[in-house]
Amino acid sequence: MTRQSPSKTDFDPAVARSIIAEHVAEPGGLLAALNALQARFGYVDGELIAPLADAFNLSRAEVHGVISFYHDFRDRPPGRHVVRICQAEACQAMGSRGLTAHAKEVLGLDFGETNAGEGLTLEPVYCLGNCAAAPAVMIGETVHGRVDATRLDMLVAACRKGVRA
Ligand code: FES
Repeated sequence: MTRQSPSKTDFDPAVARSIIAEHVAEPGGLLAALNALQARFGYVDGELIAPLADAFNLSRAEVHGVISFYHDFRDRPPGRHVVRICQAEACQAMGSRGLTAHAKEVLGLDFGETNAGEGLTLEPVYCLGNCAAAPAVMIGETVHGRVDATRLDMLVAACRKGVRA
């Protein structure tokens, strides 16, 4: 069963600033703040780079570097359905590269891109803890194992129809 990601397009700068303030005094507060911001809004809006830099006494380039380094952080809102294909070793050994190429073709997306019309986003992920059932794909909050091209097509079709797969 696939759950849709909740709508997270309601970016609110004031709420974002309060989230940042909650983490300023924490060790590793920047990562905690980034995680909280992404959990709240679905992405880390570019307008938060400067407030984050000020709050954590870093340069804007350093904050941007952290956001870019971690694959899980997005810099733009995701679609309603985020399709993540595992790129880590066990899944690669079981064909995730070919599955990825197929997904890019059928979705018409590269990693990090969103088809706004269909509400689909394609992202890489690096191990979903489902290595025994590789290759693994996560859609919304649900992990699917042993996904081949046919099964991926079915999962994508379910997303396109707005039904649970
Ligand atoms: S390597 Fe893909 S789930 Fe672990």
